[in-house]
Amino acid sequence: MKTIDWVDGAIELIDQTKLPGELVVNRVDNLDSLIYDIQRLAVRGAPALGVAGAMGVALLAAQFEDLDKVRSEAARLRAARPTAVNLSAMVDRVLPVIEQGPAAVLAEALAVRDEDIAACYSIGQYGADLVRGLVQRDKARIMTICNTGGLACVERGTALGVIQTIFEQGWLEEALPVETRPLLQGARLTAWELKQMGAPFRLMVDSAGPFVLAQGLADAVFIGADRIAANGDTANKVGSYSLALGAKRAGVPLCVVAPETTIDMNTATGSDIEIEDRGSEEVTTFQGVRSAPEGTATINPAFDVTPHDLITAIITDRRVIRPSAGEKLSEVPLGPTRAA
Ligand code: MRU
Repeated sequence: MKTIDWVDGAIELIDQTKLPGELVVNRVDNLDSLIYDIQRLAVRGAPALGVAGAMGVALLAAQFEDLDKVRSEAARLRAARPTAVNLSAMVDRVLPVIEQGPAAVLAEALAVRDEDIAACYSIGQYGADLVRGLVQRDKARIMTICNTGGLACVERGTALGVIQTIFEQGWLEEALPVETRPLLQGARLTAWELKQMGAPFRLMVDSAGPFVLAQGLADAVFIGADRIAANGDTANKVGSYSLALGAKRAGVPLCVVAPETTIDMNTATGSDIEIEDRGSEEVTTFQGVRSAPEGTATINPAFDVTPHDLITAIITDRRVIRPSAGEKLSEVPLGPTRAA
């Protein structure tokens, strides 16, 4: 089943706010509904947001003959969430095709979908090979944060896709997801996906992560990315930076896993990345129940930035770059996309 797809003239997407309790598919046939679903994280994860952006332009192209109207509506779509570069990048990729008509726009959006599926299989191959070299034991124990599985992409994941490949190859000892406050993508979504796979895992609270690394209970940390700046600094779900610091202290490799489409060479460093602040409610309430006094001020960055010197490797669908060893994104050549 695909997380997001185009079915009979509209977008269908798994409503991730309902998991793990219910598997519900939303049918989205207009831009306001799509933006609403993006902002409330019914569809989320950088690659899935890219596909949502591409298919959103296809919806607009089918709806409006006035190309200026399509362009102005697409501007709203590309700004729906600011940190994941895939959303704006895929809107920008598909938008020029509106000159060729709605059918061409849809074909381009479907190409974005299909390229994501192929990229994630390739990431699994590059990633599993790399872990083989990094891990000193027969079986691997891999910590991860947020959800970087098929739910964050189309069919198969990035960081969780590598864990899945290792599991399928028979040498995953266990996955160690952290729950991922405040919206629990690790607990609700990653644990759900691991359970569906039948893979062994243990879930922990976010703040246990660095200590568990210090105890020597993980061989590597694999995180996804919302935007990788030109110097390798990486924005990902808040909590990634703490894991990177803990991993460094414990001598455990930390790898960023993402498709090439998440690399943004137009953003020089991590400090140039816009970090979405999602407001107070997610911090002052827990599942609809108030958990802090009325009027409590908050800081709620949805993402943080891990500096490149804390990143052992960036694994993409086309290459492996080692930023902490001084390798630069601009200098490491692209390799082939690898099949499953
Ligand atoms: O706020 P979210 O759930 O969209 O955040 C998602 C992440 O931080 C993921 O790690 C990232 O988008 C990569 S998904 C393959």
